[in-house]
Amino acid sequence: MGVLDGRTALVTGAGRGIGAAVAMGLAAEGATVMVSDAGVSVDGSGHDDGPAAQVRDAILDAGGTAHADATDITDFEATADLVTRAADTMGGLDVVVNAAGILRDSMLFKMSEGDWDTVVSVHLKGTFNLARHASEWWREHRGGQYRLITFTSMSGLQGAPSQPNYAAAKMGIVGLTFSCANALRNYGVRSNAIAPIAGTRMTQGIKGGGSMDYSPENARLAPENVVPPVVYLASEQSDWLNRRVIFAGNGRISLMSNPVVEREIVSASGTWDIPTAFAEMESSFKEAILWPNIFDKGLENRG
Ligand SMILES: NC(=O)c1ccc[n+]([C@@H]2O[C@H](COP(=O)([O-])OP(=O)(O)OC[C@H]3O[C@@H](n4cnc5c(N)ncnc54)[C@H](O)[C@@H]3O)[C@@H](O)[C@H]2O)c1
Repeated sequence: MGVLDGRTALVTGAGRGIGAAVAMGLAAEGATVMVSDAGVSVDGSGHDDGPAAQVRDAILDAGGTAHADATDITDFEATADLVTRAADTMGGLDVVVNAAGILRDSMLFKMSEGDWDTVVSVHLKGTFNLARHASEWWREHRGGQYRLITFTSMSGLQGAPSQPNYAAAKMGIVGLTFSCANALRNYGVRSNAIAPIAGTRMTQGIKGGGSMDYSPENARLAPENVVPPVVYLASEQSDWLNRRVIFAGNGRISLMSNPVVEREIVSASGTWDIPTAFAEMESSFKEAILWPNIFDKGLENRG
């Protein structure tokens, strides 16, 4: 008996890295899985049906149930076909996990238009395409315990200096996920984002100055360590959890805070003059900014 017996899941980016671990983890818990991956290189070029087929075969060899697909999720119509085909083939669409992703890092002042557009297209438009078509299916098949699980990143949440395209897309995914959470909850959908950390081909190029060991030998960063909270979100038990970001990996599962008003100064008249705004912003806000983010430590200085 698995905690996902009888559930159906479409997982993108499932041919490699975290997505592959998620697909296998969901299948090991009893879910039927559509393993979807376009088999592109880290920068998004190329196309290969092989990675999705290999993960499908690994799931079948382990006694699970899986199907393979190689849709490019940046294609709106092709993603519509994928969603319909996944639901028809599996006999339902309880869970959609979007772990597909690419990188094209560069400092902002050197970034090409193409590198911006391509990264935003895979991450943000790809997540839109899947959520858009899945939501239509969910709306037409009410009564289920549906789950949208997206992938964001600490790169966006904290602003990786050499990843303006990726950081922007990943924060866009948070906004989209939160919008889905509010729009779709009455259709039985719960929408949450995972901010993972794992040693994959995507993190191989990171020069961390020794602060993070992304090598395959570091078991703490095995992609499998991201899987348990994803299984939880995919299960019917996570009905209470909506519109949140969960960090996962390196031995941690963290509930990230949603943006809230942290400090506020209010003018009784409704207006502010410049000297008073200067003085009160400094006296109220400055002491709240105590904690440097991870990029202040020189963790990320690529490009
Ligand atoms: N590895 C980390 O530490 C880390 C950190 C933060 C966020 N993430 C995010 O987690 C997710 C998984 O990353 P990973 O490290 O496993 O990367 P990965 O490169 O190992 O796997 C990503 C997979 O996505 C597929 N893909 C890319 N573009 C696609 C497209 N247009 N259509 C269909 N498939 C496509 C690739 O073929 C690849 O197999 C990504 O969204 C990534 O941005 C990873």
